[in-house]
Amino acid sequence: MAAAAPPFPASAAAALLLLPLLLCLSGGCNAQTPVFACDASNATLAAYGFCNRSATAAARAADLVSRLTLAEKVGFLVDKQAALPRLGIPAYEWWSEALHGVSYVGPGTRFSPLVPGATSFPQPILTAASFNATLFRAIGEVVSNEARAMHNVGLAGLTFWSPNINIFRDPRWGRGQETPGEDPLLTSKYAVGYVTGLQDAGSGAGDSLKVAACCKHYTAYDVDNWKGVERYTFNAVVSQQDLDDTFQPPFKSCVVDGNVASVMCSYNQVNGTPTCADKDLLSGVIRGDWKLNGYISSDCDSVDVLYNNQHYTKTPEDAAAISIKAGLDLNCGNFLAQHTVAAVQAGKLSESDVDRAITNNFITLMRLGFFDGDPRELPFGSLGPSDVCTSSNQELAREAARQGIVLLKNNGALPLSTKSIKSMAVIGPNANASFTMIGNYEGNLLPNFLPFRASQCVHLRNRN
Ligand SMILES: *[C@@H]1O[C@H](CO)[C@@H](O)[C@H](O)[C@H]1NC(C)=O
Ligand SMILES: *[C@@H]1O[C@H](CO)[C@@H](O)[C@H](O)[C@H]1NC(C)=O
Ligand SMILES: *[C@@H]1O[C@H](CO)[C@@H](O)[C@H](O)[C@H]1NC(C)=O
Ligand SMILES: *[C@@H]1O[C@H](CO)[C@@H](O)[C@H](O)[C@H]1NC(C)=O
Repeated sequence: MAAAAPPFPASAAAALLLLPLLLCLSGGCNAQTPVFACDASNATLAAYGFCNRSATAAARAADLVSRLTLAEKVGFLVDKQAALPRLGIPAYEWWSEALHGVSYVGPGTRFSPLVPGATSFPQPILTAASFNATLFRAIGEVVSNEARAMHNVGLAGLTFWSPNINIFRDPRWGRGQETPGEDPLLTSKYAVGYVTGLQDAGSGAGDSLKVAACCKHYTAYDVDNWKGVERYTFNAVVSQQDLDDTFQPPFKSCVVDGNVASVMCSYNQVNGTPTCADKDLLSGVIRGDWKLNGYISSDCDSVDVLYNNQHYTKTPEDAAAISIKAGLDLNCGNFLAQHTVAAVQAGKLSESDVDRAITNNFITLMRLGFFDGDPRELPFGSLGPSDVCTSSNQELAREAARQGIVLLKNNGALPLSTKSIKSMAVIGPNANASFTMIGNYEGNLLPNFLPFRASQCVHLRNRN
């Protein structure tokens, strides 16, 4: 429903002019420099094998791993990746989100006066209702343009934990709008389209990634909290047939056909084993059968949860060991940074298991160009704030909404005839619920930055 913009009050206009200044004074405008390793202007760094752009990602990762102590290695197992100044590697935040546009939800992304909002596409449940794989991919391409544009000014990472491709079977879940719905085939097509749109770095780019997508939450996960049954301790009892027919096909398509760079294991157990500690599900299926080219991440913080909430292991070191040995590479949270050294020292885990995990993480960052120096001098380096929320990007969001509004195909009764109907009442609690309608995992400045919400492409003029 299109609504005319309300008149913009002078006081808000004044605040609009002042707030960037205030934010700059408090440090908010410093985010104009991207985060990257292997600064080419530093001869010491340029000589390191892991900075050698002519070598393969595998060779570069092996070189980097060989330079690290065990204590340093575990800093690369967690989403708030530690800085390593002696090798010129800055801190990196792995967690960014782009469910239906770049979102502020992950700490790796934030909005600022420089980029106050990103194009907001419909929630996937609506976009998927178009049944149009071309559209899924086109949206992914636009979202990754905006992501790269924000990365180039230090406002976003390169690793996005989207899409959510859980089968939405239980309507009590409350997160169904994040998913393409209940159909395994449609969800598979959505995953492949959106992921390739996000990741494809163009012809001739080889194994390079534009941004890294992540299919989540693996697997049999569609409950949050219902009368004491909650996602942190839920044990999904699933038959092999139901896994194969219903829950796994989207993940399989995402990895095999979409070549996704990451899969995220969930909080829940499947048939008594926490997914992030399930060697069959991780090493066996994702990396073995499906041949994942990338990293396996945990949900935030699944490893802590399998120890502290599920009491699946006796000690935290056992939890660290069992999840890394199962095939986990990256932990959203800090659990593996805290407990992995002790797990190795106690002989529960070998250092080579840690090496395998961080190698997968490093290779992913290398495919993204993180170890290639300043991203502004690399492919997609010319993208910047003016490429976010362009009118054509916003038009694609509108187009997605048009294609997905299924009631338009209603036996001729809809759409209503504008010739015979002169006025119309839209009533009920959702009639003006513009904040609710933008969906969760949205992308704009938080409510306390109110003046910016009226600017650029942010559609929340009536946010309440
Ligand atoms: C970079 O890697 C390439 C390919 O392995 C190799 O030929 C070259 O000697 C390396 N450069 C340096 C400076 O080590
Ligand atoms: C080059 O990088 C190394 C490692 O971060 C650092 O110690 C050194 O000061 C840098 N050199 C210059 C000239 O910036
Ligand atoms: C699918 O979406 C694309 C991109 O918006 C559009 O060009 C195309 O016409 C759509 N296909 C169908 C069958 O609607
Ligand atoms: C919608 O909500 C906003 C904010 O609460 C309010 O200012 C506006 O008047 C409402 N519009 C209608 C048509 O009720």
